[in-house]
Amino acid sequence: MRLDTMSVLPNIVTWIPWTLTAAITSLIACYLLWKTTRNKRLIDQIPGYVDWPLLGDILQMPQEAEGFMKTLSAEIEKVRDKGLFKVKFFEWPWIVLFSHSNAEKLLSSNKHIDKSWEYYPLHPWLGRGLLTSSGDAWRARRHMLTPSFHFSILKDFLEPINDHADLLVDKLRRERCDTGEQFDIFIPITFSTLDVICSTAMGVDMGALDNTGSEYVTALLLIKEATEKRPRNLFYSIDFIYNRTSIGRKCNESIRLVHEFADKVIKERRALKEAGESNSHSKRRPFLDLLLDCRDEHGNPLTHKEIREEVDTFMFEGHDTTTSAISFTIYMLGAHQDVQKKCQAELDEIIGSSTSISNADLAKMTYLEWCIKETMRIFPTVPFFARELHEEATFGDYSVPKGTTVYLYSMGLHKDPAVFPEPEKFDPTRFSPENCLKRSPFAYVPFSAGPRNCIGQKFAMMELKVILAKMLTTFNIESVVKQADLRVQAALVLQPCDGIKIKLTSRN
Ligand code: HEM
Repeated sequence: MRLDTMSVLPNIVTWIPWTLTAAITSLIACYLLWKTTRNKRLIDQIPGYVDWPLLGDILQMPQEAEGFMKTLSAEIEKVRDKGLFKVKFFEWPWIVLFSHSNAEKLLSSNKHIDKSWEYYPLHPWLGRGLLTSSGDAWRARRHMLTPSFHFSILKDFLEPINDHADLLVDKLRRERCDTGEQFDIFIPITFSTLDVICSTAMGVDMGALDNTGSEYVTALLLIKEATEKRPRNLFYSIDFIYNRTSIGRKCNESIRLVHEFADKVIKERRALKEAGESNSHSKRRPFLDLLLDCRDEHGNPLTHKEIREEVDTFMFEGHDTTTSAISFTIYMLGAHQDVQKKCQAELDEIIGSSTSISNADLAKMTYLEWCIKETMRIFPTVPFFARELHEEATFGDYSVPKGTTVYLYSMGLHKDPAVFPEPEKFDPTRFSPENCLKRSPFAYVPFSAGPRNCIGQKFAMMELKVILAKMLTTFNIESVVKQADLRVQAALVLQPCDGIKIKLTSRN
C-alpha cells in the first residue's frame, strides 16, 4: 500500500490544536486536582515567595550562589517569628528552618536521619559513606566509626598537625611577611589543610603546600568544583546528560584517579599490616589503619569499597570545612585588631617559647576558641544541611509532609536577633560559659547537632587551634576588606567570593 503523504498532512495539521488543547486541559485538571491533596495544601500554607503555579519560585530566586543566600536571608527576616520558609523549584518544595526550636525538632530526632536526594552530586565520589548514607546503613557505619574519633586516638594526630602548621608558617614568613603586599590566604590554607588530612587520613605525605600541581590534589580540586556546579544546572541532574558534558567527563576522570590513588594506598597499608610491619603503637597511625581494624557487631570488617568511601569522605569533609573556618577566623581577627591582640596575649602566655603545641595548651586557649566559635556563627562553614522527612513532622504552627526535603539554614539560625543581638557584630564573649548557658544548644550548630552531628568536630577544633595559634604567635594580621564588603557564597561549604585578602607583618 502506498502512503499518500499529501492527503495525510492536512489531517495532522487539524489535529495539532485539538491535541494541544487536550494536553493543556489535562495538565490544568491534574494541577487543580493535585491542589486539593493534603500534602499540597500543607506545603501551600508555609510562608514563602509569591508562588507561581507550576513555576514555583524560579522567577524570583537568583540562580548564583551569592545572590541565592543574600535573597534568602533577607526573605526570612520578614517571617523570623515563623521559624521556617518555603522555596519552590517548579513544584518541588524545600523547607528552610531557621529557629532554634525547629532546629531542635529536626536535629534531635532519631527518625529524621536520612539524607535527602540533593546529596546526589556527591555519590559518584563518596559513594554511600558516613556523610551520604541513610537509615540502618548509616547507623551501622556510625557505630563502627565512632571509636576512631575518640580523644585517646585524636591526640596522636597533634604531631602531624603541628608539623604541617610549621611548614605553613615558614612558607608565609619567607614569601609573604613584611612585603607590604596583600595576598589571598585562602589558597595556602587550602593546601595546608589538604596536607594535614592526607597525612592523618591516609598516612601519605602529599606535600600539597609546595607541590600545588600534584595529580591527586588537582583531581580533588576539580571534583569539588564540578560537584559544586552540578546542582546549578537542571540538565546536569540527569546522569546521561552530565556524563557527556565536558565538565562531567573531566569530573568522572578525576574521580577515577582519586579512587585509584585511595585503592593503592589501602592495598599498601593492608599489605604492611598483614606482614606485621605496620607498628600499631606508632604515633603516626592514620585513620585508614583504624578503618582496617573496624568490626561490626558480628565481627565483620569493612569491605575494601566501604573503606575507600570513608577515606574519600574524610578527605572531603576534613579539608574543605577546616579551610573555610580557618580562613574566615583569620579574616575576622585581621579585621578586629583589639580582639587579635587579646588572642595573641593569651597565646604568648600559653605557648611561650615552646615550638610544639600540646593537648594541655589547646585546653587553655579559651579566648581563641570563643573567637573561632563567633566566626563560625557569623560565617557558618556549612550554611545548609538537609534531611528527607521520615514521617510527617510539625515545625511550629506548620505540618510538613513525609518525604519533603528540609534544610537547616545555619546562616539564618545564627543570626536570630532575639538570641544574638546585633547579629553581624563580632563579639567573642557571646561564647563565654555564662552566655552559652542562657540560650538553647540548638541556637548555634556549626557542626550540626543530635545523632547526625559532625563526627570530626574535635579533630577539626584541634587543627583550627594549632594552625591559628601558630599564625597568631608569628604574625600580625591585617584584613584588607571591610566586613560589610566581604562577599560570600554557599558552595559545598561557605566560601569567600573573592578570596580572603590579608597583609602579614612579623611580630618581632
Ligand atoms: C570546621 C570544620 C568542620 C565543620 C564546620 C563541620 C561541619 C559538619 C556538619 C555541619 C556536618 C553535618 C552535615 C550534614 O548533615 O549534611 C558534618 C558531618 C560530618 N563531618 Fe564535619 N565538619 C568539620 C570538620 C570535619 C572533619 C575534620 C572531619 C573528618 C576528619 C569531618 C567529618 C564529618 C563526617 C564524616 C560527617 C558525617 C557524619 C554523619 O552523618 O554521621 N568533619 N560536619
